[in-house]
Amino acid sequence: MPSSVVTLKVNGRAQEFLTRPGTTLLDALRESLSLTAAKKGCAQGTCGTCTVLLDGKPVFACLVPIETVGERKVETLEGLADGAALHALQESFIENFATQCGFCSSGMIMAAKGLLTANPSPSRTEVVRAISGNVCRCTGYEAIIDAVLAAAAKMKKAAPPRKKAAE
Ligand code: FES
Ligand code: FES
Repeated sequence: MPSSVVTLKVNGRAQEFLTRPGTTLLDALRESLSLTAAKKGCAQGTCGTCTVLLDGKPVFACLVPIETVGERKVETLEGLADGAALHALQESFIENFATQCGFCSSGMIMAAKGLLTANPSPSRTEVVRAISGNVCRCTGYEAIIDAVLAAAAKMKKAAPPRKKAAE
């Protein structure tokens, strides 16, 4: 099948590359753009290691055909840190020992980022629900949930205070 040119907006940057029809977003990120944080675990939507954000919402990149991405913004773990400064989620995963082999960590963190963007003060139950599609074989989930809640608290503290509505 003939290759075609695709443009993806990844981590704030438009990137153009050649791809074959039927390529998944995960394969495009890893093989065409060398963004390898999102991992290929099951390749069938059951492990969550490939989670990235599409317009801020977590998706399993192994299930997304590249042709369907269009103008939507893609965010991967590579775009989280601000230069040498880690994102609060990355810091909290380290501080809470929420990663061991690290295979699930990119997907976990991106699922958590999607949650905290939509809901900056989640309950423990909401965190559990948000990462329920992400499998970890070694850390156990308690440390991961603690890390997400710690990141939420950190981000809240760092956020500028809201202006009061004019009376
Ligand atoms: S690799 Fe995508 S869900 Fe497992
Ligand atoms: S840290 Fe190894 S699978 Fe989660």
